[in-house]
Amino acid sequence: MKVTALFCRTFNYMLIVSLFLFSALNFGESQPPKKAKNGMVVTVSTPASLVGVQILKDGGNAVDAAVAVGFALAVTYPYAGNIGGGGFMVIHLANGKNTTIDFREKAPLKAFRDMYLDKNGNYIPSLSKEGALAVGVPGSVAGLIYALKKYGTMPLAKVIQPAIDLAKKGWKLDERTAESFSKTLDVFKKYPSSYKIFSKNGVPYKEGEIFKQPDLAWTLEQIKKNGRDGFYKGKVADLLVKQISEFGGIITKEDLLKYKPVERKPVIGTYRGYEIVSMPPPSSGGIALVELLNILENYHFDENDWGSSGYIHDLVEAMKYVYADRTKHLGDEDFYPVPKKGLISKAYAKSIFKKIKDVATPSKDIKAGNPLNYKESTETTHYSIYDKAGNAVSVTTTLNSAFGNKIIVEGAGFLLNNEMDDFSAKPGEPNQFGLLGTEANSIQPEKRMLSSMTPTIVLKNSQPYIIIGSPGGSTIITTVLQVIMNCIDFNMNIQEAIDAPRIHHQWLPDKIFHEKFAIIKDVMENLKKMGYKFADLHSNFRIIGRAEGILIDNSKNLIYGAADPRGGGSAEGY
Ligand code: GLY
Repeated sequence: MKVTALFCRTFNYMLIVSLFLFSALNFGESQPPKKAKNGMVVTVSTPASLVGVQILKDGGNAVDAAVAVGFALAVTYPYAGNIGGGGFMVIHLANGKNTTIDFREKAPLKAFRDMYLDKNGNYIPSLSKEGALAVGVPGSVAGLIYALKKYGTMPLAKVIQPAIDLAKKGWKLDERTAESFSKTLDVFKKYPSSYKIFSKNGVPYKEGEIFKQPDLAWTLEQIKKNGRDGFYKGKVADLLVKQISEFGGIITKEDLLKYKPVERKPVIGTYRGYEIVSMPPPSSGGIALVELLNILENYHFDENDWGSSGYIHDLVEAMKYVYADRTKHLGDEDFYPVPKKGLISKAYAKSIFKKIKDVATPSKDIKAGNPLNYKESTETTHYSIYDKAGNAVSVTTTLNSAFGNKIIVEGAGFLLNNEMDDFSAKPGEPNQFGLLGTEANSIQPEKRMLSSMTPTIVLKNSQPYIIIGSPGGSTIITTVLQVIMNCIDFNMNIQEAIDAPRIHHQWLPDKIFHEKFAIIKDVMENLKKMGYKFADLHSNFRIIGRAEGILIDNSKNLIYGAADPRGGGSAEGY
């Protein structure tokens, strides 16, 4: 803790306590986390959580449940659950093995570096976000089936059946989902294949109505019968390629045939004695999270620091350095030499910590570091699962924007992603999350676009302690960071840790984004005196993340689950 920070912390102490009580009353303590003894599934969609917990009750392990939930979310959470997108799975097995499965989308074979620039070299943002050119080669089906075959115990037919039933027989629309359809209806109108699914001949669906998706049920049946070939070959592949080429896209059958998920070694770090197991590139999430925790480990926080200007200052300065590094150094490791070891080294983090002053350093004065000198070792959704054998699975999956590019594949009933926007279309041009990129994340055929998804498992004494992740584009990393710190530094239970209001800074723009109640007036005044600027409360990030988490208390033999009230859904245990 440094001098200015200390002054501000003392000054704000009483107000912080009242803020915390206020926010706790609104978000936290009134709702204790779900408690169970055998297993827990937390997702943004209650029907999907129920599918997962039933698989656990039927004797499946956490991977079986994760695969069942992955397919179920494609039916019950079309906003981000998907078979037309991609994601990442982090696994800790009860035998101690940690691994990750990368089923991120890829750039099509016909993609090229300047594909979103006009002839004068100007970036055309709509091309990477909307329509068929925005689509990356989907990875979810291949990834889920790979995980099931290697680490699951149940047949595909068993784990995919609940999703088929939900699609065929329908399920009762909750308020949020019905609203999300009607709010997007104007965009769906551009695509007849989508409009007919998400409305009843133009009449919006209402809460409580039964939503059936027969075409999606048919596609899931093809996958059930033929495994990955049911999606990447045959009739479904024909429909997918037809839909994309009708809208001027470039994905071919060869792209689909060539798609493979990749099992990768996790990024491993430590924080105050806890082990952090997270996702390596092509996600920036794991590296950025470990780099942030390494910097912040140099501070001592006690419970009264939470929400103070000193604490926010420490978080924000660390975030600025880490997002500057993200911009310069991170991309798909299969195509670009990411200086991973340096970025996650404690010595490199210490060198950044030493640069942090007692006042805000303007982002323009912060540059990406040189981690090579250190050799030591939006819209999206997350779900967390733990089983009675001690296996833990943390999955984040996405179509990128809400409902992806909003185009349903005619006849196949699933939405396509617009993940190509996660590439850096042109250096210096921000993507939809305001993130910048450089060569490391430029477009190349078959390259995976950089992600911020941060599915993470925190180990305590080598056993799963926290299983956590979040949607939210660039805010995913800082959301996961704050939930972990809320548990470890501030002793919050998992529901309080998730509910507590959050802040976010991503280097550029040089502004603190914050949720309502995250920064009270006096704290904000102090931070302004230290040189900080704030984004409008109604900015893109007025809600920062929607975390879904599990905390395992081995001393009590209890598993606690918490769904984020920002997103609905539920923790279901038994
Ligand atoms: N599409 C958001 C991410 O992967 O970070």
